[in-house]
Amino acid sequence: MSVQSVVARHPAEDRYSAFARDVIEGLTARPKRLSPKYFYDETGSRLFEEITALPEYYPTRCELAILRQHASDMARLLPPQTALIEFGSGSSRKARLLLDSAPAIAAYVPVDISAEWLSEEAARLRHDYPRLAVLPVAADFTQPFGLPRSLAPLARAGFFPGSTIGNFEAHQASAFLRHAARILGEDAILIVGIDLVKDAKTLTAAYNDAAGVTAKFNLNLLARINRELGADFDLAGFCHQAFYNRERQRIEMHLASRVRQQVQVYGRMIEFRAGETIHTENSYKYTVESFGAMARGCGWTPVAAWTDADAYFSVQALRAAKQ
Ligand code: TRP
Repeated sequence: MSVQSVVARHPAEDRYSAFARDVIEGLTARPKRLSPKYFYDETGSRLFEEITALPEYYPTRCELAILRQHASDMARLLPPQTALIEFGSGSSRKARLLLDSAPAIAAYVPVDISAEWLSEEAARLRHDYPRLAVLPVAADFTQPFGLPRSLAPLARAGFFPGSTIGNFEAHQASAFLRHAARILGEDAILIVGIDLVKDAKTLTAAYNDAAGVTAKFNLNLLARINRELGADFDLAGFCHQAFYNRERQRIEMHLASRVRQQVQVYGRMIEFRAGETIHTENSYKYTVESFGAMARGCGWTPVAAWTDADAYFSVQALRAAKQ
């Protein structure tokens, strides 16, 4: 299929061309890679919610326990009439724990790339919190985006749970922290979830669940490329791989080609060697100290850190320094 004919099918949809451009760029790079932000179509978002409930996947359980136990300590850091801005809100389940404990939160601004999820969740939140202003923003929060004007009179706090910042490279995480300091402003609080360095066995199991949901989630990226870009990936020809890279303190996720094969993607022929992988995501692990040090270099002062009983996960509060 030619590039023109695919573009012509979606004349008004710029995001398809950005998606197509990123996919072609990644699959023609060496080593091959795909951006994890494209995991989250409707199926991907649903599979991700399933991952968070898996027995091996400790981060969500630990983070929820920390939030349940310490939400009122977190709430005490927020001035009256605060807008809580969540980066990558998904189901907003964690934000609800803060909303329940922090009457200071007057507005909630969920920012998410998945527009369908966002509007459904916003409706549920308005129903459950009738006095809260719910102002969803459909945006890729890794790119600069605007906040609703109506937030001007409110103090601001950021919420970035799920160790999503761990999915960024160090330079991207730093850029995000600087960007967040700029849009939230002086004295703002940022509450951020950080997965901690631990034994390789626990880490590896979390990304290789016995039920195979993480594998499905990873492979869904190829299904999405087939569907939206007219590619012909044979999903049975690829397998999920996740392992801990100890030197770099990160989990790496890949899709490995089981055989030597060719795949047609958006008018290009992409060649795979047997065993060749597409690197789809990293999940960096920090210590409380190593994350705090990075935050200090990016306009933030660490003010508190809470962990679960096993010290598997941490929720850290930062305050924006004078710019
Ligand atoms: N940021 C979390 C983590 O790295 C959640 C997550 C993002 C995730 N992408 C994932 C979990 C892919 C499993 C598989 O753990």
